[in-house]
Amino acid sequence: MKEPLGILGAGWVGLVTAACFAELGHEVWVRDIDDARIEALESGIVPLHEPGLPELLTHNRERLHYTRDPAQVFENARLAFVCVGTPPTYSGDADLSAVWHLLQEIPAATQTILVMKSTVPVGTGDKVQSELEALGRNGVGYVSNPEFLAESTAIRDFTNADRVVIGAFDEEQGDAVARLYEPLERPIIRTDVPTAEMIKYASNAFLATKISFINEIANVCEATGADVTRVAEGMGYDSRIGSQFLQAGIGYSGNCLPKDVAALKQLAGNSGYHFQLLNAVIEVNELQKRRVIGKLEKHLGALRGKTIVLLGLAFKPNTNDMRHAASLVIAARLLAEGASVRGWDPVAIDVARPLLPGVELHENLLEALTGADAAVIVTEWGQVKQFPFGDAVKVMNGAVLVDGRNVLDPDEARAAGFAYESIGRASLG
Ligand code: UDX
Repeated sequence: MKEPLGILGAGWVGLVTAACFAELGHEVWVRDIDDARIEALESGIVPLHEPGLPELLTHNRERLHYTRDPAQVFENARLAFVCVGTPPTYSGDADLSAVWHLLQEIPAATQTILVMKSTVPVGTGDKVQSELEALGRNGVGYVSNPEFLAESTAIRDFTNADRVVIGAFDEEQGDAVARLYEPLERPIIRTDVPTAEMIKYASNAFLATKISFINEIANVCEATGADVTRVAEGMGYDSRIGSQFLQAGIGYSGNCLPKDVAALKQLAGNSGYHFQLLNAVIEVNELQKRRVIGKLEKHLGALRGKTIVLLGLAFKPNTNDMRHAASLVIAARLLAEGASVRGWDPVAIDVARPLLPGVELHENLLEALTGADAAVIVTEWGQVKQFPFGDAVKVMNGAVLVDGRNVLDPDEARAAGFAYESIGRASLG
């Protein structure tokens, strides 16, 4: 029989982890503090948008048990994955209150291994161990097993992971976690706990650095007449560089990269080290979103009274996640300039509504474009990649299109009558 597992926190990482281990044949006890979320899951409703997840949860519903009671998890499972949120605080540190709260909830005399999936600052494993000792929970072990799941491809990223990182204080506890992943036949990297914690931060910070780097190259391309998409292609063939994460655009957003880059910078600062490179990565990313405004002004002049449509609100396609979404910053800047702002998104409208006061929201693309002076591609949804040039030019008041993701063909856009702007493709117009 497969090892029964616990999942503490039924957020996005927790549910993907639960579904994938259930698919591998494990009984999984999933605990969340939110009654409504547990009720929804019990009745077959998945409270987030992740391709393939509802199917996997339904397929394995007999092996998945949802509860509000942490004791039930610890009674049934020797290994419990910690998948609680670690959002940034005002100081840029990670907020670990959900982790500390969880430790208090472990029943006395429990024999368990906590497997940390949440992204936590380097040194958290040591602090958790000390806290467990102070609480007298001597039967509780600790392993760091950071997640490298990207939203919208999370199931594939789990089952086909580039690597599984396992950092342990105790060899046998690490072995117990490693065994869970053996059926996937993916490379398993065994380290100490602080190293595993750092691998997660360093990986996300490096991805963010790649994006800010190519965005700066794009900005120089605009000034010099080169085409960044071809530059990235030419660079990507070098196996030392690799072709991924070299798409220039309006910067990185989402729940992980912005938060983890800020947390690593803060962690370094707290340890007395000034992480200069990350400061630049963050600054470039902030400015990159704002460059859209200049591109609109180039064609429209002052934006006061102009109607601008943001195409795509979620931070990337195939998710309804709006955390740190570029659309939030661009909408706020446009409103500050006195523009009327509309937003279109095929799945994120409900999540976006409370976050975008003052923005008129639409689920129908042509409706959103009707009467608008300009459109900005913020998220590269499939519908946007198939932009209906002919219909759009008829219903819009102006014909300005800023492609923040370089997904459209500039010649096609111009042939349809659009003043077309993209990122780092100056030679094309
Ligand atoms: C990321 C990491 O990829 C994942 O390993 C980690 O566990 C969580 O954080 P995610 O936030 O889901 O995943 O999104 P990702 O696909 O990495 O994209 C992040 C942001 O970077 C998006 O806003 C995306 O549009 C942007 N991006 C990505 C670029 O601007 N250019 C690129 O070339 C790639």
